Amino acid sequence: MNPSNYKILVTGGTGYIGSHTSVKLLQEGFSIVLIDNLSNSSINVLNRIKELTNINFDFIEGDIRDKRLLRRIFKEHKFDAVIHFAGLKAVKESEEKPLNYFENNISGSIVLLNEMDRANVNCLVFSSSATVYGEPSETKCSEDSQLCPKNIYGQTKLIIEEILTSLKKIQPKWKIVNLRYFNPIGAHPSGLIGEDPNGEPNNLMPYISQVAIGKRDKLFIFGDDYNTTDGSGKRDYIHIQDLADGHIATLKKLLQGSPLKININLGTGKSYSVFEVINAFEKASSKTIPFEIISRREGDVGEIYADITYANDNLDWSPKFDINDMCKDAWRWQSKNPNGYNE
Ligand code: NAD
Ligand code: WQD
Repeated sequence: MNPSNYKILVTGGTGYIGSHTSVKLLQEGFSIVLIDNLSNSSINVLNRIKELTNINFDFIEGDIRDKRLLRRIFKEHKFDAVIHFAGLKAVKESEEKPLNYFENNISGSIVLLNEMDRANVNCLVFSSSATVYGEPSETKCSEDSQLCPKNIYGQTKLIIEEILTSLKKIQPKWKIVNLRYFNPIGAHPSGLIGEDPNGEPNNLMPYISQVAIGKRDKLFIFGDDYNTTDGSGKRDYIHIQDLADGHIATLKKLLQGSPLKININLGTGKSYSVFEVINAFEKASSKTIPFEIISRREGDVGEIYADITYANDNLDWSPKFDINDMCKDAWRWQSKNPNGYNE
């Protein structure tokens, strides 16, 4: 296939995963248009993407719930596919503001799907999450494992997955994949783009990075009494560059018309404990990460990791980077940009 024949709409394109995937899409030769309401990302991302690729692309500042805006965009551009990253993703906030999450994530996706359909664009890669598994009965999750999200955020992902599954079933013209990401971390190796959370980070890697740079005194470890190798929680961390490659691989397969299962896990198939991540980060940064062990965080599970057999066998993709690469690149981004995109 020749990517330069294809135009892709990237929703949430200035966000953490969207920006890394956009760089890869441009470097592969795809034409792209990004839409983002900048509710959780910075306009400065755009210059960084341009600096990395030296390729022009369009950006629309706007909301995917804005039907008239979407209608205009789909009229102006002849898209071949959409990669749909736009959404709210903070677990705790989703419990505090459930209606915001239903509205933004679910209604937003429905507006997008309607406008795609009107424009005869029926190819979609959707950002789902391992959070749909909730507390699995087995630590290793395959796409067929039981689904039981433990919070409103996860529920929004499962509801969208279900809508997409029904749509594809009843209207086979739709080519859809729900990518279930495990724990994306790290940054582009240039240190030009990375994860830049607003306020106190919810997730482990940005928290550790901010301790290392001196913005926070210490890491709070949520429990050391799990039934795991060292008692701390174990997760399947995947390098953001591998995750971005997973999107390119999926998109190419869909555009070529290859039949794919609708739900696909993207992880590495290995899990690391909080202590192992701290050790790898200390090695990568030559910094000491002070920590305090506190009680478990509500809703956390002891261990979960991906069965990536299907992705390996069907996407011409496999993860290349290990936890040391992830920590090195996360630290390069954090140390080059102590205030993230706030220059
Ligand atoms: P992010 O917040 O960095 O990116 C999401 C982007 O969407 C942001 O730039 C935000 O401004 C934008 N956005 C939100 N609502 C919008 C709307 N209504 N209209 C237009 N733009 C809107 O998050 P991310 O980490 O890049 O995640 C991307 C997607 O992947 C999300 O759907 C998230 O739920 C999902 N996901 C993320 C992770 C993770 O750990 N980062 C794991 C699994 C799934
Ligand atoms: C990892 C490990 C914590 C922070 C979340 C979402 C999930 C997905 C990815 C979007 C756990 C421990 C963490 C801290 C800690 N996002 N931890 N101190 O919880 O696996 O997944 O992000 O879809 O939906 O729930 O990731 O990075 O928050 O936690 O001890 O300050 O680190 O207990 O064991 P999680 P995380």
